[in-house]
Parts: sequence; C-alpha cells; structure tokens
Amino acid sequence: MSAVEAPTGSRRGGTVGEPGLGTREPLLELRGVWKSFGPVHALEGVDLEVPAGQVTALVGDNGAGKTVLVKCVAGAWEPDGGQILWAGQPVHMRSPREAAALGIETVYQDLALCDNLDIVQNMFLGRERVRRVVLDENTMERSAGQTLAGLSVTTVRSIRQPVASLSGGQRQAVAVARAVMWNSKLVIMDEPTAALGVAQTAMVLELIERLSHQGIAVLVISHNLNDVFEVADRLAVLHLGRMAAAGPASEFDRQIVVDLMTTGATTRRAPGATAGSSEGG
Ligand SMILES: Nc1ncnc2c1ncn2[C@@H]1O[C@H](COP(=O)(O)OP(=O)(O)OP(=O)(O)O)[C@@H](O)[C@H]1O
Ligand SMILES: [Mg+2]
Repeated sequence: MSAVEAPTGSRRGGTVGEPGLGTREPLLELRGVWKSFGPVHALEGVDLEVPAGQVTALVGDNGAGKTVLVKCVAGAWEPDGGQILWAGQPVHMRSPREAAALGIETVYQDLALCDNLDIVQNMFLGRERVRRVVLDENTMERSAGQTLAGLSVTTVRSIRQPVASLSGGQRQAVAVARAVMWNSKLVIMDEPTAALGVAQTAMVLELIERLSHQGIAVLVISHNLNDVFEVADRLAVLHLGRMAAAGPASEFDRQIVVDLMTTGATTRRAPGATAGSSEGG
C-alpha cells in the first residue's frame, strides 16, 4: 500500500504533472453529495471545490453538517448520493485507509495522540518501519525530525519527549506533522485552534499557511472567524446541510459569513467581491 511506503521529509508539493497539483481542476471536488441518517438529512446535495496549495475554510453553525462532510471525504462515511472527484476522477473511498492511500489525511479535534508515547512513536503509530524484524528507530527518528523541521516546528525540545509533556499547540503541530508525513495532498483539520491560547493559535495558523505554500490542499473547519479570515484563501458556508455559499475569501466579510451561517442567505456584498460571484447552491 503506497501510503505505508511513502518516504518522509520529502514534501515538495505543487509538482506539475502530479494529479491535481499544478493543474487547473480542484484537487478535491464534491458534486451534489447527499448523506442521511434515517430521517436526518445531514448533507443535501453539497457542492465544494478544494484546490491544491490553498486553504479552504469550512464554516457553519452547530449541526450544519461540517463533520459529516469531512467524514465523507476522509472515508469514514460513504455518501448516499452525488460524487466525490479526486484530481477530476470519481472516487469511492470505503475506509480512512483508502482515503489515506489517495493522500487524504485528517487531523481530528481530539488529536488522537497517545500521551505515553513520544513524538516519533506517535508520528509512526500504526505505520512503524521495520528492518530485519526490529523497529527501524533511526530511520523513523530522522524522518520525524525532518518533517517537523520542514514545517519549521522549532519549539519542541526533543522528539523523544512523551507527547503528554507537550503544550496544546505543540501537540497540534505533531498531529499535523504526522498527517503530512505520508505524502499527503489534502490535509483536513477539524477545529485545530479550538483549545489553544493566543500564541499557540498563531503558531498553528502559521503552520496551516506553510502547508498550503508547500502545495498541499488544506480544508479547515473553524468556528473562529478571526482565524478563518486570517488563513483562508477560500470560504465555504454550510447551513442545515446545504452549501449556502462558497468562493474566494475576498468575496466575504464577517457579517456576510454570520448571515449565511445563521439564515443561509445574505443581501450584503463584500468590498472585494466581483459582480455575480459568491452565490450559494
Ligand atoms: N452518526 C450519526 N447519526 C445520526 N445523525 C447524525 C450522525 N452524525 C451526524 N448526524 C446529524 O447530522 C447533522 C450534521 O452533524 P455534524 O456533526 O456534521 O454537524 P457539525 O456541522 O459538525 O456541527 P458542530 O459544529 O456542532 O460540530 C446533525 O443534525 C447531526 O445530528
Ligand atoms: Mg462537527
């Protein structure tokens, strides 16, 4: 399986000729995606484009369908209808492993790091490198170190430090580094700054920008509109399972986003908006 063999510390991103990178079609595209749970329609015909090398922020009120959408993209749920396209090709992901094989990695809010393990062990959890029946600690340590350095994560004192001893921001950085280490092309983050203080939030936002500059597509869920406007190149607003609006961040301002989140519509127009853009689906 390619995801397991992916070499580390080798993120180049934006390589022309790789699917979805340097090409014009979005790396990920949702077309009319439906997902229901019994009588609850969590997603009703959702369209979304997530381009490589950009940060797309997904916002919406509680219960809008953000997590369900992310789980459909991450292979945790299969949509009931519609299409998911990856670099222009329809794909059916039946498990997170299949999504990972395409280059889709998700950083969930609880981070799912193991406190009693160190940074290297966490980054290789379930994907350990073995050499002649024993774990190849040197290679794993080198790769983990290179990945963190490549993301300019410099506040961690030792990569052999147990994760329990890290700050919230450092834990988030380790979780992100783990996600990008496997040749990821799309990194999804569910509320990455929710539990963080000011300085740590700034560090994570910087990390998000760095990922996109490396050519990675980033899809970030956030309730914090300050964060959203700081990092997002594109915005998508879900309202009760429908895509209320999506487009370049310049076409939105805070009040427009609040209108869309609470009512699904807006009569305002952002100063940076061009005529005829940013209407919902
Ligand atoms: N496993 C499930 N079974 C039944 N209903 C579900 C399930 N998962 C989600 N839902 C429903 O789907 C809708 C969307 O939920 P989702 O978790 O995606 O919301 P959200 O936008 O992530 O909200 P929040 O901001 O609170 O995290 C909700 O009405 C929720 O109750
Ligand atoms: Mg959610």
